[in-house]
Amino acid sequence: MSALRIHPRLWCVLVALSAGVGLAAPASAKPAAVDQCFTCHHDGGTPQAVAYAKDIHYLNGVTCADCHGGDPTKDDQDAAMSPAAGYRGKKIRKSDIPVICGRCHGAAMNAFKREHRLNDVADSLAAGVHGAALRNNESGPQCVSCHGVHNIVAVANPASPVSPGHVAKTCATCHSDAKYMHDFNPRLPVDQYQMYLTSVHGQLNARGDFKPATCVSCHSNHLVYPVKDPRSPVYATRIPETCSRCHSDAKYMAQYHIPTDQFAKYRRSRHGVALLEHSDLNAPACNSCHGNHGAAPPGAMAVAAVCGNCHQANAELYGKSVHKDAFTKQKLAACVVCHGNHGIMEPTDAMVGLEAPSPCAACHKRGGSDPAEKSIVHMRALLDSLSGGQRRADQQIAHAEELGMDVADAKYDLRAVHQALVQGRVAIHSFTVADLADAIHPGIAVLAETEHAGQEAVHDYYFRRQGLAVSTLIVTLVAVLLYLKIREMEKEKKK
Ligand code: HEC
Ligand code: HEC
Ligand code: HEC
Ligand code: HEC
Ligand code: HEC
Ligand code: HEC
Ligand code: HEC
Ligand code: HEC
Ligand code: HEC
Ligand code: HEC
Ligand code: HEC
Repeated sequence: MSALRIHPRLWCVLVALSAGVGLAAPASAKPAAVDQCFTCHHDGGTPQAVAYAKDIHYLNGVTCADCHGGDPTKDDQDAAMSPAAGYRGKKIRKSDIPVICGRCHGAAMNAFKREHRLNDVADSLAAGVHGAALRNNESGPQCVSCHGVHNIVAVANPASPVSPGHVAKTCATCHSDAKYMHDFNPRLPVDQYQMYLTSVHGQLNARGDFKPATCVSCHSNHLVYPVKDPRSPVYATRIPETCSRCHSDAKYMAQYHIPTDQFAKYRRSRHGVALLEHSDLNAPACNSCHGNHGAAPPGAMAVAAVCGNCHQANAELYGKSVHKDAFTKQKLAACVVCHGNHGIMEPTDAMVGLEAPSPCAACHKRGGSDPAEKSIVHMRALLDSLSGGQRRADQQIAHAEELGMDVADAKYDLRAVHQALVQGRVAIHSFTVADLADAIHPGIAVLAETEHAGQEAVHDYYFRRQGLAVSTLIVTLVAVLLYLKIREMEKEKKK
């Protein structure tokens, strides 16, 4: 914090702009030449003044009067602290604080169109959820709640309450205080800080590694939106991008030796496409599997539970299957063993088999003594016979439809075949032939019927077409005979 970043001349304009009266304009990044408020109060041992001697504002020439009003050039207490000189007294309304700080850290600076990071702090605060809370309730968050007062230091200074090592605790002064938060929003959880401490992010942070996320990496600092607001960086469709800012940055993550492909894979996955391209909010974002504040990879045992939040039927069957205990013993991550984690694609029947790329092939081989071999072949045959049959029936019905036949009934029946296939692809998670057969067989039965119906319809068509040809022939014949007869009769008349 060496040089004053505001040009001295700009300072004069700025201070002149400010609402206060008689504010001295500091000339450079050092204490104001004349600050009788400070001098008298510091000498008198006023605690605020003692603290202020190290405050970044004092060191940059900001006087007590810049915030409290009054005349800092007067060494007489009454003259200095006179209401006529704009002195506000000690009672500063909390809702006025952003206005006071904002005179310098707010819109006033925008008039100069300078790219300066002190630009829009007060405006940002006002536009977000914290500003709204303050407007409704005097004890809502304002500048001093996070930065302190009279002892403000640069935000990068490790002593700052908003430095990466302290910020989570600072947010927690309110967000872990159930009684306080209740006045604003009784439904808002108050466990974020506790959860954060258990996360990989929080644990590394506690050890002094400030690269992992803190509250502000995910929520921003001044412009904090409610999490259900689509503008929030943690709104479902924006989370993957928010996490990927760090997790896809190979350079940033290099020291941790973990993959940085999560977002790249996720974006193309069934889940990523559903959420990011089709805005399907039922599909998981990073936090659906990793938690909001307890971010850690779900442990091997917890994966089935995480996926099962949404895929209940699959998880239940898997939980009762022979794989459950076998995988648990080997500390294998349940669903992830067959489906992957970030790059989950649409499953196909080819997943069931004894050759790669079927996931079964990793553990079950052909030609051995593995009792699963026969079952796997059988399962695949069941799936193939139903899906193959469905394809054939579809073709037949389409053909009959082209010929103009009424196939509504057959089409309706085919829906049951589709249903059986859907159920079979769930039932497979019990990994028994019997359960899969139970799901598939009703479909195969319907298939036999619809196939028959389809053939009938086509047969009918040709039968009717032959019938039509015969009757057309007869009608034509009769017409020709009639014509000949009439001609004959006309000839007779002429004679
Ligand atoms: C010559 C000494 C002197 C000067 C100059 C002076 N003060 Fe004070 N100020 C005092 C004393 C003494 C008190 C406490 C006695 C009291 O409550 O009246 C005090 C009280 C205060 C309080 C607390 C008010 C309260 O109700 O407890 C504030 C805030 C304050 N001063 C700000 C300022 C500001 C801002 C300036 C400069 C514009 C300033 N003072 C200049 C001596 C001074
Ligand atoms: C950057 C702005 C700023 C500066 C500079 C500043 N103050 Fe304050 N001061 C505040 C704010 C804001 C409050 C109210 C804090 C609150 O309500 O939590 C306050 C409160 C106080 C109080 C009342 C404390 C209380 O607990 O009631 C005193 C006394 C005080 N300031 C004295 C001073 C003195 C003396 C100086 C100069 C040495 C000074 N302040 C400089 C912003 C400032
Ligand atoms: C909810 C807590 C919170 C509130 C309220 C808050 N800040 Fe901050 N502020 C922060 C955090 C956290 C940082 C550091 C951000 C970072 O590390 O990226 C910061 C950074 C800053 C900075 C330096 C960096 C920058 O963005 O310019 C200034 C100046 C600042 N705040 C002023 C203010 C002022 C003025 C107010 C009131 C209008 C205010 N802050 C309200 C949390 C807060
Ligand atoms: C009279 C103008 C003025 C007022 C009023 C003012 N500030 Fe500042 N503030 C400054 C200046 C000048 C700096 C030092 C700029 C620099 O070197 O980055 C500064 C620096 C800061 C910083 C450190 C920024 C960083 O670079 O890390 C914070 C935080 C901050 N102010 C918060 C506040 C808060 C909170 C208030 C109200 C209680 C406030 N300021 C009121 C002028 C002001
Ligand atoms: C790694 C990113 C991340 C970090 C770090 C983080 N959050 Fe969150 N936060 C989230 C996500 C994601 C949500 C939930 C969004 C949703 O429910 O749609 C959330 C939700 C919230 C909510 C809304 C209530 C709730 O719990 O659902 C609050 C308040 C909140 N966070 C505060 C904090 C605080 C305070 C910290 C620091 C102790 C913090 N967050 C750290 C990502 C994060
Ligand atoms: C002075 C108390 C206070 C501090 C400090 C504070 N907050 Fe808040 N926060 C609130 C209040 C009050 C609300 C508004 C709750 C409401 O009305 O829904 C809120 C709301 C939020 C929300 C929106 C929750 C939702 O979805 O409705 C998030 C996110 C949040 N704060 C994050 C943070 C972060 C991050 C920090 C630290 C940088 C922080 N807060 C510091 C009091 C505080
Ligand atoms: C500010 C950068 C940053 C952001 C934003 C961030 N992370 Fe992290 N995250 C890290 C760093 C650094 C690590 C530490 C790597 C390690 O050693 O595990 C980490 C660790 C993790 C881990 C533990 C990995 C492991 O195997 O140890 C998970 C899981 C994780 N983050 C998930 C998330 C999720 C989900 C989000 C978004 C909601 C997110 N992170 C946002 C930086 C970030
Ligand atoms: C469908 C659930 C799910 C989603 C969505 C998900 N993850 Fe994961 N993630 C996992 C599982 C499970 C693991 C553990 C891998 C294992 O044990 O094999 C993991 C591991 C991780 C790890 C540890 C390193 C690694 O790659 O193994 C990080 C970091 C991570 N995920 C970040 C993210 C980020 C960032 C997103 C969003 C872009 C995300 N995850 C989305 C389930 C998910
Ligand atoms: C937040 C809910 C949620 C979580 C958690 C979740 N999923 Fe999904 N999953 C969905 C939704 C919704 C779809 C449908 C997306 C679509 O439209 O294709 C889906 C699709 C799938 C598909 C493709 C199904 C198909 O027919 O194409 C598979 C496989 C899958 N998820 C496996 C998993 C696994 C494994 C996990 C855990 C690592 C998991 N899911 C976690 C909601 C979730
Ligand atoms: C041993 C390998 C294996 C494991 C473990 C496994 N699955 Fe599957 N999964 C499959 C196969 C095989 C299919 C069906 C492929 C097909 O025929 O289309 C499938 C299909 C699916 C489908 C799409 C069908 C549907 O239900 O919509 C989802 C979703 C799914 N699995 C989720 C899960 C979840 C959740 C878990 C963990 C509880 C899990 N799977 C565990 C092999 C596995
Ligand atoms: C990570 C290794 C692994 C993968 C991958 C795997 N299995 Fe298994 N499977 C096992 C183990 C181990 C057993 C034996 C459990 C026992 O007997 O306690 C088993 C047992 C079975 C059984 C029961 C055999 C019997 O009758 O005793 C069937 C059926 C089965 N698996 C089918 C499949 C199918 C289908 C797939 C692929 C979709 C698959 N498995 C993928 C490890 C695996």
